[in-house]
Amino acid sequence: MRDPNLIAGFESAEDAGVYKLTADLAIVQTLDFFTPIVDDPYLFGQIAVANALSDVYAMGGKPLVAMNIVGFPIKTLDISVLQEILKGGLKKLEEAEVTLVGGHSVEDPELKYGLSVTGVIHPDNVTTNSGAQVGDKVVLTKPLGTGIINTALKADMAPPDVVDIVTHSMVALNRKASEIMRETGASACTDVTGFGLVGHACEMIVEQERVGMILYPDTIPFFPETENLAKMGILPGGAHRNRDFRIQFVEIQENIPEWVVDVLFDPQTSGGLLICVPSEKADRMVQEMRQSGIENASIIGEIVEEPKGKITVR
Ligand code: CO
Ligand code: CO
Repeated sequence: MRDPNLIAGFESAEDAGVYKLTADLAIVQTLDFFTPIVDDPYLFGQIAVANALSDVYAMGGKPLVAMNIVGFPIKTLDISVLQEILKGGLKKLEEAEVTLVGGHSVEDPELKYGLSVTGVIHPDNVTTNSGAQVGDKVVLTKPLGTGIINTALKADMAPPDVVDIVTHSMVALNRKASEIMRETGASACTDVTGFGLVGHACEMIVEQERVGMILYPDTIPFFPETENLAKMGILPGGAHRNRDFRIQFVEIQENIPEWVVDVLFDPQTSGGLLICVPSEKADRMVQEMRQSGIENASIIGEIVEEPKGKITVR
């Protein structure tokens, strides 16, 4: 039997579970962990926190408390690495004004770090991923290309200044973007992570087959060098999997270069929010985001009546 207090959960591929406690209070819960994507443990800790909190922000919630989840190869790695990771994580939690209340660690041949997060939200103000309306503009708040740049980094092919830009983006909280979204009043939101832009866009429209989405690649922000690296075929394995999984729901116009399609499926780490917002509010929302330091926030598409359940790239 379905619990009537469960407002949003995994059955609709939501970012986080939302559970109503009283008429005006619900909790938002989420959990995320992964293996290191950067060499610097202090930065990795920060990225893991920004990434874990993001699912609460995507629903318009306010994260309150968090718990660490650690898998650590204690026999092969010095404990100081873990200390640095946790220090980076704590710094990010403090910035987000989230309280660390505990955690659990196990021995693991492969290092992993992440967090479970609990936040609060008003039950009537939950921004789910399924509320897109015809006429909405689609807004993205961070550039694409973290998967490609991180793949290039492992092959020593990523320029250090680009790596800095990408790292800076991955450690950035989606908090401010979430606050501005909530004040503006959005129809739908999700964050762009492992399934890539198009994968997460599909979650917003494919299941319901109620509306369609048009994406305009000319307006999508990419990290510097993403184009060059993608053209050279530097792609993480996840990009191919994402493409195979969702390509049947995507209509790509002939004039769109192949590298653009690759980037649209590039798995993102700690990516931005993907927001559907009523057309008349979109410009102001993007402007406010840019003024508050989310400098790449852009309108990248719109919600249309037809073709339903499809992403059209043109
Ligand atoms: Co998410
Ligand atoms: Co998640």
